Amino acid sequence: MSEGNIFSVSKESRRFSPSDEFRAAARVKSREEYEALHRRSIDDPEGFWLEQAAQLPWFKAPTKALSWAEPHAKWFEDGVLNASVACLDRFQGTPTWQKAALIWEGEPIGNDGEPEVVTLTYAQLHARVCKLAAKLRNLGVHAGDRVAIYLGMVPEAVVAMLACARIGAVHTVVFGGFAAEALRDRIQDCGAVALITQDMSYRRGGEVKLFEAARAAASQCPTLRSVIVHLRKRENAALDDDAFARAFALEQTVVRLTSANDLPPTREHAAPAEVPAEHPLFVLYTSGSTGKPKGVLHSTAGFLLQTQLSTRYVFDLKEDDLYFCTADVGWITGHSYITYGPLQCGVTCLMFEGAPNYPKPDRLWEIVERHHATVLYTAPTAIRAFIRTGEEWPKKHDLSSLRLLGTVGEPINPEAWLWYHRVIGGERCPIVDTWWQTETGSIAITTLPGAVDAKPGSAGLPMFGYAPRIVAEDGTEVARNTGGKLILAGPWPSMLRTVWGDDERYKAQYWSEVPHVYTTGDGARQDEDGYFWIVGRIDDVLNVAGHRIGTAEVESAMVSHPAVAEAAAVGRPDDLKGQALVVFVTLKGGHEPDDAMRARLLDHVAKEIGKFARPDGLRFAAALPKTRSGKIMRRLLKDLAAGRETKGDTTTLEDLGVLAALRGAEE
Ligand code: WT7
Repeated sequence: MSEGNIFSVSKESRRFSPSDEFRAAARVKSREEYEALHRRSIDDPEGFWLEQAAQLPWFKAPTKALSWAEPHAKWFEDGVLNASVACLDRFQGTPTWQKAALIWEGEPIGNDGEPEVVTLTYAQLHARVCKLAAKLRNLGVHAGDRVAIYLGMVPEAVVAMLACARIGAVHTVVFGGFAAEALRDRIQDCGAVALITQDMSYRRGGEVKLFEAARAAASQCPTLRSVIVHLRKRENAALDDDAFARAFALEQTVVRLTSANDLPPTREHAAPAEVPAEHPLFVLYTSGSTGKPKGVLHSTAGFLLQTQLSTRYVFDLKEDDLYFCTADVGWITGHSYITYGPLQCGVTCLMFEGAPNYPKPDRLWEIVERHHATVLYTAPTAIRAFIRTGEEWPKKHDLSSLRLLGTVGEPINPEAWLWYHRVIGGERCPIVDTWWQTETGSIAITTLPGAVDAKPGSAGLPMFGYAPRIVAEDGTEVARNTGGKLILAGPWPSMLRTVWGDDERYKAQYWSEVPHVYTTGDGARQDEDGYFWIVGRIDDVLNVAGHRIGTAEVESAMVSHPAVAEAAAVGRPDDLKGQALVVFVTLKGGHEPDDAMRARLLDHVAKEIGKFARPDGLRFAAALPKTRSGKIMRRLLKDLAAGRETKGDTTTLEDLGVLAALRGAEE
């Protein structure tokens, strides 16, 4: 499956130690201390995790840590709890209850030059969650039912997740950038009975018409019985109930998320469901190497415990921190490190609705300054975009409140790391790189701040409970500084439990390639100090501007267009996006490969999947290079897309003329 050997050419040797001041106040203060904790979590996982489990507010505490019937894990099986209680109710009667849980900033700037800011204390967030939980129950949503959430970056997204968790319903958040078709496929795949959406959301000065997409999707989803609409737009919020019903007419029952007439929920209706530890918490769809997105299933206790632990340690959280994560709630980072991790820690989380560079390239820095953010967690692709617009933009702002920076999503190139460190962190903030996946649920590799040095470009050392290793094609462990496949040995509490509705795919994708270990799909090397250096994906999955996109998904969207005979999608290195998406297309007879067709096909992919998956380049070809057995030779297409000489073996190519013709093709 992987093409060629995985090797790493990075020779980065700079290291950055935390300041004595940071170290003195850090939760873990030295590499020795880190290693002792990590070793214990690996040598005695059951003892370690059962002890840690005391951090969760149980209705009934577990007596047992793990049952492992490879590849199925059950953690804390006889424990009983509720995720919304772990994030909210646990603080009732403590000072945290009156502290801000969320500070949200809207994208539009008002006439007074100020954006809308909403602050919700833990008590207020709890009240909203109870209200929505009661509403869901009234609509007949039961524990175990799936509820789709298709919202922008609004506090209601967090409210919706926690309300589902409160009644034991399984949420599936669909990124607001996805199109109607992608939303429909996800609702259908998990058989959601309710959908929580909004009229529209603001993004980069424009309006994202979420409800229109929701309407189109809902009409093709027979399992969907009710739709709850959050009214974001002021004009809509003023609708009376009749006007609302007319405006949002759907076959399904439609109700507004909050309305003035809402009665306070009764104690019974808002009561948290007492669910077993392994009760499913959410399904989150992610790209794999086949065309169909995978519904990654996470369960309750293990996910909660490991997100809580990692949030506290990796971001070194303190009582007065203002934690700002720029990820979208539609991705795993928004689940683990906006919602479940930080709220369990009782921290104040800053949430921003819009694009980090709208209306000006310094919007993010303006936000950091306005709210005095202390921890910032963002993605390398965003950092590269900031580098491009110039350091004069962050320089306009006082960023001295920041004390820790984080990155996630793809390998960070050392130059971007150094810029982030100097320009944003004022050379005073440690940077935590964090490697993990939708499937791991929590951060697996990182540079624990205060405890260990950072090496720009390296993801760092294993988090508690994780045992990463580098193995060769045949599954044997390789020597230090040798590239190979990154695997994780043994189960950990926040790991995915299965692929929704497709346990065979779960086994095949993650637990078959190398016997008895979890395959990540990434290539990496481990250096002489034990630090991991991630090279990138080795399967047919691209990482475009931090979005994980399966090439097969793009191809199947492309060939669903009636003019297309065949398509092959590949990645090309890109300064800004990390990888750019290039598609080679052959048309059916009677269709012209002209610019109009190119635009139609690009639009078609954007319509099927979402704008973020719109290919960066499209080349028409008379034929695609294939092996004699008919397999498309992507290796050659990748070289072509990158403008490289096509190296390597072409002897298996069926028709050499195809390659010559492709070289002449333009994007
Ligand atoms: C893939 C997982 C985990 C939240 C965001 C993405 C890549 C992620 C890093 C990092 C190098 C990284 C990997 C991984 N990745 N973080 N710090 N350094 N690569 O979640 O969509 O599930 O994607 O993102 O290739 O397998 P995801």
